[in-house]
Amino acid sequence: MKSRIIFTLFILALHHIATAQNIIAIKANQGRDTISRFIYGHFAEHLGRCIYGGIWVDEPTANIPNRNGIRLDVAEALKKISVPVIRWPGGCFADAYHWRDGIGPRESRKHTENVWWGNVRETNSFGTHEFLELCEMLGAEPYLAVNVGSGTVQEAAEWVQYVNHKNGTSDLTDLRKQNGRDQPWKVKYWGIGNESWGCGGNMTVEYYVNLYRQFATFMTSYSNSEKLFRIAVGPGIEDYHWTEVLMRDIPRNMLDGISIHHYSVINWRNKGSATQFSEQEYYTTVREALRADKIISRHKAVMDKYDPQKKVALIVDEWGTWYNAEPGTNGAFLYQQNTMRDAVVAGLSLNIFNTHSDRVKMANLAQMVNVLQALILTSNEKMVLTPTYHVFEMYKVHHDALHLPVTKQVNRYFAGGDTLDVISASASRKGNTIYVSLVNIHINQPQQVTISIEGSTFKAVSGRVLKSKNPHDHNTFNEPDKVKPAGFTDYKISGNRIDAVVPPTGIVVLQIN
Ligand code: AHR
Repeated sequence: MKSRIIFTLFILALHHIATAQNIIAIKANQGRDTISRFIYGHFAEHLGRCIYGGIWVDEPTANIPNRNGIRLDVAEALKKISVPVIRWPGGCFADAYHWRDGIGPRESRKHTENVWWGNVRETNSFGTHEFLELCEMLGAEPYLAVNVGSGTVQEAAEWVQYVNHKNGTSDLTDLRKQNGRDQPWKVKYWGIGNESWGCGGNMTVEYYVNLYRQFATFMTSYSNSEKLFRIAVGPGIEDYHWTEVLMRDIPRNMLDGISIHHYSVINWRNKGSATQFSEQEYYTTVREALRADKIISRHKAVMDKYDPQKKVALIVDEWGTWYNAEPGTNGAFLYQQNTMRDAVVAGLSLNIFNTHSDRVKMANLAQMVNVLQALILTSNEKMVLTPTYHVFEMYKVHHDALHLPVTKQVNRYFAGGDTLDVISASASRKGNTIYVSLVNIHINQPQQVTISIEGSTFKAVSGRVLKSKNPHDHNTFNEPDKVKPAGFTDYKISGNRIDAVVPPTGIVVLQIN
């Protein structure tokens, strides 16, 4: 009897905690760092239907509107979220990719085997020219990952020459011209390998550092091309020693960024369903997404030791949720649906990256279309935008805005094996406009949030919300608009305070003028 009373009191207390007020204070005049728009970047790998069928279609046979093979419906949707940067061609695929296979007349391109992702035939129809054309079409910066695992230094150096050198200086630029491109593309971002501790070669950090230095020596800007931004492979798990060795042993003039990957996975052996998940699984995914904050902070601490001026960027060039592939699809294609749970993960992750904008200068969602936490799903000529897409669209306001520090006093909730902050927030400023993005991770309870603006006054507030009745809700080809943003009116202004109610698993973006 006694234990039942204690249990009831515990549940009541939890309920009270979850509905009490949360306080967010925005320091409107204390901004220092810009939130790089590259934090809102993407990743497209030759994996499953990301490229073939997702971004690109074989134009002679396709009944899907396209420009030189690039799907126009997908391109239009991507333009609306102002995609700033795209990482390509992988992922694990990058360390098996030989760029010369993907240039020249398509009918004579070499067919290879995609050894990482289902051993399917890679026609190489989508290669360097097609990818760089996609980037130009979207106004996005390309970020190329070179093959360190099974490629050579010469191959990497020649790729740089092929895409970046001015006309007429070498056979490689003649070849580019012959293949239809006169002017260099001036690709700035270059990743030297991918997951070199795993699929990229199972290397030790000491071995990788030497290879990195060798590749970086020959992948130079030369005198007649763009200054390269070279990115080293960071650790895949919380191996801070790896980061330490990179920072210690790579000369500063050779290193512009270190990349890390962070996937929100319930259990690597059984990742669970994307759409049919329990409350426990929901919170475990959320907890894993929130762990990025600690991981980034610890990497920053190591980097600060060697680079207090923060010249070397931390780049989260793969992040997102990873579940079991949709039933009935090829497991190696990593095709998964995308629910409000994914929208919550997107909102939380982007808030975390914004908050670390002093060091995090780029992040790339894995992946852009049809793979993992995709923005867009396609089925032949059909296309659907996922809840994650809508978060990217709503958060566009933060691109290149001044990051504003936020202090929080929020409810904490024990779930997913940890005590989690119920509300996540980040804020930025452009001129006199302040933007706040809020996420309520609670699966079924709304949260009252009081936002106080310190150091500035305001007259007007408007907002948008992404919410749905059920955390499992998602968009399908038959019901493409089940989850989409709407106007947000659940707030009151009193003096320099805004009192808002954020719905469960809801994402709210406020504009304060
Ligand atoms: O995004 C899928 C895979 O995850 C990438 O190819 C690899 O880099 C990572 O392990």
